[in-house]
Amino acid sequence: MKKLFLNHKMNLLLKDIEGYVDKIPKDKDLVVFPSNIYIPLFTSENVPVGSQDVSASKRNNMTSEVSATQLKNSGAAYVLVGHSERRAIYQEESSQIRSKLENAVEAGLIPVLCIGEQSVETRYTDLKQQIKEAFGDSLISENIIIAYEPLFAIGSGQALSVEEIDEMIHWIKSYMKEIYHYEPFIIYGGSVNDENIKELSLSIADGFLAGGASLEIEKVKRMIEALK
Ligand code: PGA
Repeated sequence: MKKLFLNHKMNLLLKDIEGYVDKIPKDKDLVVFPSNIYIPLFTSENVPVGSQDVSASKRNNMTSEVSATQLKNSGAAYVLVGHSERRAIYQEESSQIRSKLENAVEAGLIPVLCIGEQSVETRYTDLKQQIKEAFGDSLISENIIIAYEPLFAIGSGQALSVEEIDEMIHWIKSYMKEIYHYEPFIIYGGSVNDENIKELSLSIADGFLAGGASLEIEKVKRMIEALK
């Protein structure tokens, strides 16, 4: 099965999560990114889990931050880095994104670096800049997944077409091969749901990142069925 990553963002209460954990199919290719406070509920049921963010700091006196080591220790295997909401709303800078990638890799987490263009017109310059800023001259690790999420597709109800996803993922893979001599694993995100995922799975994307459609367990089950 292609990978399916579920980004809960700041949704769901404890009572909802308990039912969700009970009902979610256990599959190594299905990874949930809940709020950090719920991570142990997933790990205790052997559901692969990730965090939506990680601290860029190596110091422990950082009120409210959660370190990569703490996430790993609580059972997380993955972490989202540089999601567009973090970049836009919290003005996350390239130096922070790079530190987050480094901290995650050092702690043994698999980072999922989110990149995406503002608009069709700026797509290649935006993506080149985000890739260069995150990796600099060296890749840090080959164990980094890229989540390609065009900003205008996120939460819009309008995913990219299969042809466009293919074109963009092909471009990112070629660009990274040219610069870093390495072709990353790339998933697509932006309005992926239970109605379009079967069609989208015909693309060359190695998997998908779903936000809104990840909150209802019935939709999650339909997405998994469509991917099988
Ligand atoms: P969406 O969100 O599926 O609701 O568009 C995706 C994301 O923000 O990762």
